[in-house]
Amino acid sequence: MRFIGFGLTIAATTTVIAVGSTAVGQSERAVAPIEVDLAMAELGKRLFFDPRLSGDATLSCASCHVPELGFSDGLALSEAYAGSLHFRNTPTLINTAHRDAWMHDGRLGTNLNDVTREMLTETYLMNMDMRMMQERVRQDPVYVEMFAAAGLGTPSNGGVRNAIPAYLSTLISRGAPYDTGDLSEEAARGEALFFGDAGCSACHTGDRFTDDQPHVTGVPDNPDIWAEPLRHIGFITYAKFMGVANYMNLRADPGAYVRGHEADGSTFGSFMTPTLRELTYTGPYMHNGVFETLYEVVAFYNDGGGDAPNKDPRLQPLGLSSGQRSDLVAFLEALSGEPLTGPEFVWEEEIPYDYPAIENWRETEN
Ligand code: HEC
Ligand code: HEC
Repeated sequence: MRFIGFGLTIAATTTVIAVGSTAVGQSERAVAPIEVDLAMAELGKRLFFDPRLSGDATLSCASCHVPELGFSDGLALSEAYAGSLHFRNTPTLINTAHRDAWMHDGRLGTNLNDVTREMLTETYLMNMDMRMMQERVRQDPVYVEMFAAAGLGTPSNGGVRNAIPAYLSTLISRGAPYDTGDLSEEAARGEALFFGDAGCSACHTGDRFTDDQPHVTGVPDNPDIWAEPLRHIGFITYAKFMGVANYMNLRADPGAYVRGHEADGSTFGSFMTPTLRELTYTGPYMHNGVFETLYEVVAFYNDGGGDAPNKDPRLQPLGLSSGQRSDLVAFLEALSGEPLTGPEFVWEEEIPYDYPAIENWRETEN
């Protein structure tokens, strides 16, 4: 039996390989690959790129998590299911399998199986009914074969929720100058600042550059969330569901406050420290996409972060010269590696819809 990263064990007879190879010259600073079941990951890959997994069959996971954009979408705020708009920025999925709490507010702390269910069923994401999804998947002969090959039996919604996380576990950073030791002089000076006087490594720690904890940094508001009615409705739906008081009048994202509802307000507006890997692909930045460029982000920190009464006291004005700010940006850029856009990561074959419909499907055994 092998452990494959999300609490699932598989039979020893299944092929298990390490994906995200430790390339020659890649140092110990690199993000560790995760062992995955190949057949399961291959199935997950097809599912990830299949729009039939959304209610109206127009959105796949890859509609918002685009491989060329580091599995984010290049927008400040995410688009969403037809007739709705999202109130947050789409995060990268590279290295997400190493996290232990997901979403900008860290509200899902179990496993990627749960995150996948949330993405599929949430009305403003893919708005899918899991029973209908299961029927759609069962009608595709390619899936019938692939589920069997992955040891998952007849296509089921549980199988989908295991296969997609296996695929996500293959999305691991590789080849960043930081890992290969090819830092430019500028980036090397930026590294010294990052781990030294600029204090960035207080929160951005480890090989993914995150402590996986929420902090208040005072990122400015993105007014589009309140100005665009569909986004505002998405936010209200969320805040009501999360049990946030006064959700109709609230004009601020509570962030990780939704995890503990701390009465003293200390966690209001805190957000999970994001990874700093693959930033060159994933702008705009922050939970609400208010910063277009890394220069803007560094300027924000140079000012000591934003305005918030409960801001983390470690954020203080830094007084960095413009040269030092550029050095920090060069270091941040050196944390991006090869794009994960090859066929190992992208389902390139067409996904056909022209297989014959099953007559009498209500009476037909799967
Ligand atoms: C409509 C756009 C959209 C679609 C489609 C979508 N996502 Fe997301 N995804 C988002 C947004 C926005 C967030 C952040 C939400 C939040 O913080 O509340 C997110 C967050 C995530 C996260 C958490 C990442 C982290 O590091 O915290 C994972 C994992 C994820 N999505 C996987 C998927 C999978 C798998 C699918 C397909 C089943 C999918 N997403 C479909 C927009 C989308
Ligand atoms: C007190 C903890 C803390 C410190 C110190 C800190 N950060 Fe952050 N950082 C965060 C949090 C939390 C966020 C997410 C905020 C949000 O989304 O609203 C973030 C976001 C970022 C982002 C945006 C990433 C993305 O994908 O959106 C960058 C880039 C970044 N920080 C770089 C730095 C640099 C450079 C420094 C040092 C000058 C630094 N951080 C210091 C906690 C910290």
